[in-house]
Amino acid sequence: MKFYLAPMEGVTGYIYRNAYHDFFHPMDKYFTPFIVPKSLHKQNNKEIKDILPENNTAAPIIPQLLTNNAVDFINMAKGLKAMGYTEINLNLGCPSGTVVAKGKGAGFLAEPLELDNFLYKIFSELGDMKLSVKTRLGMDSPDEFEDLLNIYNRYAMEELIIHPRVRKDMYKNTPNMEAFGYAMELSKNTVIYNGDIFSAVAYDRLIDKFPQVQGVMLGRGIIANPGLLDEICLGAEARAEMSCTNEPLAKEKLRAFHDRLLNDYSKIMSGDRNLLFRMKELWNYMGGLFPDGGKLLKKIKKAERLADYMAAVDGLFSL
Ligand SMILES: Cc1cc2nc3c(=O)[nH]c(=O)nc-3n(C[C@H](O)[C@H](O)[C@H](O)COP(=O)(O)O)c2cc1C
Repeated sequence: MKFYLAPMEGVTGYIYRNAYHDFFHPMDKYFTPFIVPKSLHKQNNKEIKDILPENNTAAPIIPQLLTNNAVDFINMAKGLKAMGYTEINLNLGCPSGTVVAKGKGAGFLAEPLELDNFLYKIFSELGDMKLSVKTRLGMDSPDEFEDLLNIYNRYAMEELIIHPRVRKDMYKNTPNMEAFGYAMELSKNTVIYNGDIFSAVAYDRLIDKFPQVQGVMLGRGIIANPGLLDEICLGAEARAEMSCTNEPLAKEKLRAFHDRLLNDYSKIMSGDRNLLFRMKELWNYMGGLFPDGGKLLKKIKKAERLADYMAAVDGLFSL
């Protein structure tokens, strides 16, 4: 079984990925938050920094691109190859209004002919660069997926990563397991599952239903509990190949992970405000690990100075 860290814009940048990789059960692949390819000199600085090899020394990184322009995609793929990357990912799932309005991300799924044309062009030019696709089931209805899968089946992808929701769901409702089953049955490409694996129990349920699934991509579940993969691994009779050496999540380990993130972010962010914004975003997910932490979590949310933030974090970890 392969495990991948999902790309999460604003959360899983290189600092998070590196710290996670050092502290917890390592992922087989780490996908970067999406990069919008532009002509190279216009490329966003933050996006470039996130993929620079010197910032990504430990873990296997797969850069993710978000575009509906084949020329931009191919140029960026060439640039990434020159940087040493051998695999990239195409985002066909982003549900955000501004992205969809431009016909990108999940918005591209509404234009199957253009999408097919785009895939044809990029697959003809990729050479030995491997390409995986991360997709939703469609824009408005899972019925759209049959056509989309027929298109995907025309191309030799490294993997097809499926988040079985439609764009209209955003992150509401539950993943459509029937549609995922359809993909498992009919996809010519290797299928990877993504969506709502928030516990080892949820993982077991997935594997019971689809024992043939070859990989799982984890997003919010890992941010909420960075020890999730260790837990999945520890419960694993059928997963002996994972060689579990780690312990269940201990407070001390989480604290050390937190401090590493805070320290690394403080080196690249100016001012308490930006730093705290980033850390508070993590607490929106990790708060659930402290069921008695209501008041202190509120203090974390309200903190405007680093000292107030640290006092609340100290309080939380001494509960
Ligand atoms: C804050 C946030 C940012 C995200 N950014 C990206 C992104 O850059 N690229 C992408 O393909 N998906 C992105 N996603 C979607 C996740 O990769 C993943 O598909 C989704 O969260 C479902 O998986 P999960 O239930 O394991 O979290 C984002 C999701 C969230 C919540």
